Amino acid sequence: MRILVVDDSVHVHHQLRVFLTADGHEDLAFAFSAREAFELLGLDDDTPSPAADLVLMDIEMGEMGGIEATRRLKADPRYQDVPIIMITADTSSESLQASFEAGAVDYIIKPIRKIELLARVRSFLRLREEVVTRIKRNDEVQRTYEDLKRVQAQLLQQDKMASIGQLAAGVAHEINNPMGFIISNLGSLGKYVEKLAAYLDADEKLLAGCDPAIRKIAAQERQKHKVDYIRKDMPNLIAETSEGAQRVRQIVQDLKSFSRVDGTEFVHADINEGLDSTLSIAWNELKYKATVTKDYGQAPQVWCNPGQLNQVFLNILVNAAHAIVDHGEIRIKTREEGDSVRIAISDTGGGIPPENVKRIFDPFFTTKEVGKGTGLGLSIAYDIVVNKHGGRIDVTSEVGEGTTFSIMLPMKRE
Ligand SMILES: Nc1ncnc2c1ncn2[C@@H]1O[C@H](COP(=O)(O)OP(=O)(O)OP(=O)(O)O)[C@@H](O)[C@H]1O
Ligand SMILES: [Mg+2]
Repeated sequence: MRILVVDDSVHVHHQLRVFLTADGHEDLAFAFSAREAFELLGLDDDTPSPAADLVLMDIEMGEMGGIEATRRLKADPRYQDVPIIMITADTSSESLQASFEAGAVDYIIKPIRKIELLARVRSFLRLREEVVTRIKRNDEVQRTYEDLKRVQAQLLQQDKMASIGQLAAGVAHEINNPMGFIISNLGSLGKYVEKLAAYLDADEKLLAGCDPAIRKIAAQERQKHKVDYIRKDMPNLIAETSEGAQRVRQIVQDLKSFSRVDGTEFVHADINEGLDSTLSIAWNELKYKATVTKDYGQAPQVWCNPGQLNQVFLNILVNAAHAIVDHGEIRIKTREEGDSVRIAISDTGGGIPPENVKRIFDPFFTTKEVGKGTGLGLSIAYDIVVNKHGGRIDVTSEVGEGTTFSIMLPMKRE
């Protein structure tokens, strides 16, 4: 517990030092003026805790008096709970009244009597100690509460993502089955159309040798039913439909490999494949915002939980798209580096101001408007990469230039 004495007299300093050290108070500080006291107390810096636990303040000082100094100290939240005892020779009620109004808790009359001084100092230091303990306990409770809140929100979000993944994979599975026969039937249909066309050709040849009256009727029927048009359009329709069906099948495949609900455990997986399936899931968010350039290294196999890693990639890619205002570029690079794999995702978006860089991995930190971001994406990504995979995630960013997220994953770890 530190006691600060503020008095413009050396004599008082000396006297108080003798009295206080005799009573076991070792941690003492002395100031000759209010200004010096403010400096010692760090009134202008941003240290979080106060630099003294008790202040003994002379009322009559040059430049700034003790009452004004007390008022200033009390305006600082750090010093609101720090007791200030006035030292004064002036016992007029106005001066004492003003002291109490400024925030002082008590006063000692000059000439200072040891017994009176020590009694006051002891009792206010005891009070101060109780307050400090209470603040510490409150801080702890507050911290625990915030930890709990953070973990709970992350769990909830992860749970939500997992159940969306599960739902998606379930739907994908259900779509897969009908897609199977749609694609197979389209194949048959294509062949049938070819046969019908061949038959029509043969028909035409036959008709060429017929009576002109019959040929006329045949030509009319042909026109009426738009046979020529249909014949020409049918293969196109089937080709387009097959292409659409193939695309649906690919999306279903991507959905399944993206969510990987089958695997909550670790497997050896190809990072490039994970990135590709994530890209196709995020495609809708990305395609209008950015040209995506892929620079993949040799399919690096990593011991990982692919479903979780895909969530990490998804959030980083979506963040990149959000950071781009009109249109920009997103680059994805994978490389083996020693026994790790580095995945770098860069964008040409607005960048992150330096003061925000240290906060982006904090849960709930978001610069997006309400409803657009929960601020959990990167905190979950951090948890997945660092805690669950023993990897690293770093960011470099330049405002106005863009941002690169770099993930290092150890390749093997059973
Ligand atoms: N590529 C980026 N460019 C610029 N700022 C970014 C980028 N990635 C993240 N940020 C900043 O980091 C903040 C936190 O990102 P995070 O993914 O954790 O949350 P969010 O995207 O805001 O919300 P959520 O992901 O939960 O929907 C963002 O709000 C944004 O300010
Ligand atoms: Mg995000």
